[in-house]
Amino acid sequence: MIPWEKLAKGKAPDGQVLELRRRGHEYLIYAGGYDLMSSEDDTSSLALSEYGCAHLGGIKKARVLVGGLGMGYTLRAALDQVSESSTVEVAELVSSVVEWNREWLGELAGCPLNDSRTRLLLEDVRKPIRVAKNSYDAILLDVDNGPDALAHKQNDGLYGKRGIDSAYDALKTGGVFGVWSFDDDPGFTRRLEKRGFAVQTHRVSASKKGRGRYHQIWAARKGR
Ligand SMILES: C[S@@+](CC[C@H](N)C(=O)[O-])C[C@H]1O[C@@H](n2cnc3c(N)ncnc32)[C@H](O)[C@@H]1O
Repeated sequence: MIPWEKLAKGKAPDGQVLELRRRGHEYLIYAGGYDLMSSEDDTSSLALSEYGCAHLGGIKKARVLVGGLGMGYTLRAALDQVSESSTVEVAELVSSVVEWNREWLGELAGCPLNDSRTRLLLEDVRKPIRVAKNSYDAILLDVDNGPDALAHKQNDGLYGKRGIDSAYDALKTGGVFGVWSFDDDPGFTRRLEKRGFAVQTHRVSASKKGRGRYHQIWAARKGR
């Protein structure tokens, strides 16, 4: 087995240390003592946009928000689903992750940061969600382990009542709140439904190689 090579280290604004590692063709982002994501687990990251942007086909000028960047798969899949005049904003908390995408990871997902429809926001995704009102056609969240946030404690707030209210207000009617999670969370589904979202859940394979691991995607539609 090829050993992991440490390529770079970065720090989030909350002090959390992240590391980029490589083993053969596989890359790993490691944060807070656990594997935040592997480049081999692209399937569920792509599925987040596939389910979260499925309604955007007929929209000429869609506005989508992705949080966070990671290895760029969710951003790539969102770009692939929207028209040429659309905008996909990607909010990333950690500047090193952006640098790693420019230096090492970009090719994994076809260099989505170079797409002219991409707008990079180097900030906590909570900020653009809080500021926007009836603005986004889709908000796609994959910032942590899911509703049971592990890497950054403050991410809990995105999945609680206030976070759900903010996402609801930031979306246009008919817009979709897409959320990735390591596992199912019935309490999160209930909170979404209580706020008025029409919720669909999807259990998706973590990677193309299968390995028997599954992740959870919520596609929650505002209104009609
Ligand atoms: C699991 S990765 C995302 C993987 C991504 N779906 C992909 O396709 O590669 C999580 C990313 O979210 C970032 N992040 C964590 N909390 C955040 C927040 N509150 N706002 C913006 N980005 C955040 C992390 O630094 C990391 O880059």
